[in-house]
Amino acid sequence: MEDKKTFKLAVLASGNGSNLQAIIDQLHGQRVESGGVSGAGERIIEVSLVVCNSPGARAIARAQEAGIDYVVIPSVDCESLEQHDLQMAEAIQKSGADLVVLAGYMRLLHPSFLDAFPNKVINLHPALLPAFPGTTSIADAVEYGVKVTGVTVHYVDEGVDTGCVIAQQPVPVEEGDTADTLAARIHAAEHELLPRVIRMIAAGKVTPPPAGSRKVRTE
Ligand code: GRF
Repeated sequence: MEDKKTFKLAVLASGNGSNLQAIIDQLHGQRVESGGVSGAGERIIEVSLVVCNSPGARAIARAQEAGIDYVVIPSVDCESLEQHDLQMAEAIQKSGADLVVLAGYMRLLHPSFLDAFPNKVINLHPALLPAFPGTTSIADAVEYGVKVTGVTVHYVDEGVDTGCVIAQQPVPVEEGDTADTLAARIHAAEHELLPRVIRMIAAGKVTPPPAGSRKVRTE
């Protein structure tokens, strides 16, 4: 039966896990008042599972240090993307997650994974989508010469960074910025925006778009 007192997160990560850490520090064990669509009253946000696809990633150590359940499902050992992602889906379903958060998860998800969690998978991207999709967004923004870039949290669909936008935060590009100096400010913005959006979702303040629309409603 659904536990209405807890809002459970499954966090997927592949590497450093600084965004996982921001979620742990800012949200794990914290109360949220839900007056929105779920009408659940007060809930505690809990990171119930960390899933990592690359053994040795710093994200795993962060879960261990916080005493959070984790599972490592190496992508390389699996026969296919579908088989890998179905293994992840099974672990996430067992954890009872209300929301799946991709926090530096560096692989596309198989459609059957997304079918298992409709409107429940979100991703963090280090640019203002639809500008600079893909894995080199920060360097791409510097090279292009834009004056403002930023951070996006969006629902995940089958494309590369094409899902509907939930929230964005701009980050100015400064004269003389390199990919590294800009990355430091992008990451700081990520560590603020992602926990804020998760809190909004837990509070029932985010409504996915109706069929045929891309407009996510936020309160
Ligand atoms: C972040 O910049 C995120 O936007 C991107 O991958 C990076 C992950 O960083 N998708 P971390 O592993 O959370 O430190």
